[in-house]
Amino acid sequence: RHGLLVRGRARHFSSVSLADIDHFRTVLPPHAILTTLPTVATAPVAPAELDQYNRDWMGKYTGKATTVLKPRTTHEVSKIVKWCNEREIAVVPQGGNTGLVGGSVPLHDELILSLASMNNVRSFDPVSGILIADAGCILQSLTDYVAPYNHIMPIDLGAKGSCHIGGNVATNAGGLRLLRYGSLHGSVLGLEVVLPDGTVLDQLTSLRKDNTGYDLKQLFIGAEGTLGVITGVSLLTPPAPQASNNVILALPHFDNVQPLYRKVKRALSEILSAFEFIDRAAYDLAVKHGQGRALNPEDVEGAECFVLVETSGGRREHDEEKLTDLLAELLGAEKPLINTGVLSQSPAQFSSLWALREGVTEAVSKEGKAYKYDISIPLAHFKTVVDSTRKHLGVKGLLGDHAVKHVVGYGHVGDGNLHLNIVAAAYTDEIQDALEPFVYELVSSYRGSISAEHGIGAMKTHALHYSKDEVSIALMRKIKAIFDPRGIMNPGKVLE
Ligand code: FAD
Ligand code: MLT
Ligand code: ZN
Repeated sequence: RHGLLVRGRARHFSSVSLADIDHFRTVLPPHAILTTLPTVATAPVAPAELDQYNRDWMGKYTGKATTVLKPRTTHEVSKIVKWCNEREIAVVPQGGNTGLVGGSVPLHDELILSLASMNNVRSFDPVSGILIADAGCILQSLTDYVAPYNHIMPIDLGAKGSCHIGGNVATNAGGLRLLRYGSLHGSVLGLEVVLPDGTVLDQLTSLRKDNTGYDLKQLFIGAEGTLGVITGVSLLTPPAPQASNNVILALPHFDNVQPLYRKVKRALSEILSAFEFIDRAAYDLAVKHGQGRALNPEDVEGAECFVLVETSGGRREHDEEKLTDLLAELLGAEKPLINTGVLSQSPAQFSSLWALREGVTEAVSKEGKAYKYDISIPLAHFKTVVDSTRKHLGVKGLLGDHAVKHVVGYGHVGDGNLHLNIVAAAYTDEIQDALEPFVYELVSSYRGSISAEHGIGAMKTHALHYSKDEVSIALMRKIKAIFDPRGIMNPGKVLE
């Protein structure tokens, strides 16, 4: 069956043996090998020590890896992968393990290749803003690295304190800055990848323009570790904006989001850098779990949803003037689209308003077990999808404290990306069966995408056909077979 339970192993892979550990000891120092196998040379670690690698961020998917390897160099990665390919040991590349679709943990006892020890910046050019870094660099550390040069990373997400740049590229993560800086398909200039047979594909260029045939690196962006191990990333970092502001707008009706978005885009034009959405249920959860500071009760009264608008520009006075003019226009309108707007007045307030939006993921997971559907659909239907799901669960008799506690919607309006989260007391087959294929069919009816930014991972392999036709899936399989004929690289992810 699909869904929560792990599917059967599609093909046979070898388990890691003591002989394999002996070989890995010729490649890596002892502390870079974590294994529960009873080796003679090093004491085995207790299985619980591997929990953080075997269990995903949501606590929804759990693997049974006996061994985690932590190489420090591309050469070491190459030697490990080559050995695994020859021995037909399946490999799960792992970054910060913050993925939300079960892609970063084994389905069975695959070997986990953690990039955590490959965390050096290789170079940064403050003139071009091109950063070359090891794949295991944590996103926040790269943000901190380029900050003194007045640059920022082109990507930002709630998991920035743990996720790796390699993981970001492998998932083609979207996040909070996509509206302004576009997707990683544009910002990534080059990659270094270890292919499943151990070959190092060195495409770590830092050229803005390079039309020399097929752009191979694009295949690894969003491949979720199924085609190779990304070991280095070359990335274009934008100059830091001179001024940033944000405002939370409380809306009486969801129907106002679309006209509001048009108005905001027109009024703020080049300084608009984010337009993020949270519905009332998501806001209430964020507040309940201490994410950011609650707005004044009178500001949220009667609000059906909220929009966070961020501006990033070159001159503070100019940006502030634009934003306050916009607020005055919105509030002074004959039929206002918003009830109220709360403008941040200090860096602390700026962060606190962002926390209300960014913190929803954390809040949802504190509240219960989240069934997460990350979908692209036309903005006009965001609310319909949330409401229909709630209604459907109600009809199935699954709403209530002991089953589904909340159905919430939030996301990236500017990107047409809704996060539909069903927060339940536990992960159960009953809820799972009520949600799928219901949600996927709904998305498909709008010709939407069943994965806007989180990927397919293990969660959605069976549902890929809702968003990709047979021709596309057949081509994906052919590409997989070219790169990874033995299928060792993250098996059971993306493609069944
Ligand atoms: P992991 O979780 O370790 O791995 C994810 C996938 O990439 C796996 O399939 C893994 O095999 C593969 N992989 C990892 N590293 C490599 C590598 N070096 N080479 C090859 N394959 C590799 N996602 C968004 O898109 N937008 C968001 O706004 C967003 N916000 C989030 C907020 C929170 C609080 C959390 C917990 C998650 C969020 N995510 C978001 C999901 C997740 O953070 C992203 O998918 C992120 O890019 C994963 O990076 P990671 O290093 O943790 O990768
Ligand atoms: C977000 O936009 O907050 C992230 O994609 C994480 C999530 O979907 O919860
Ligand atoms: Zn998101």
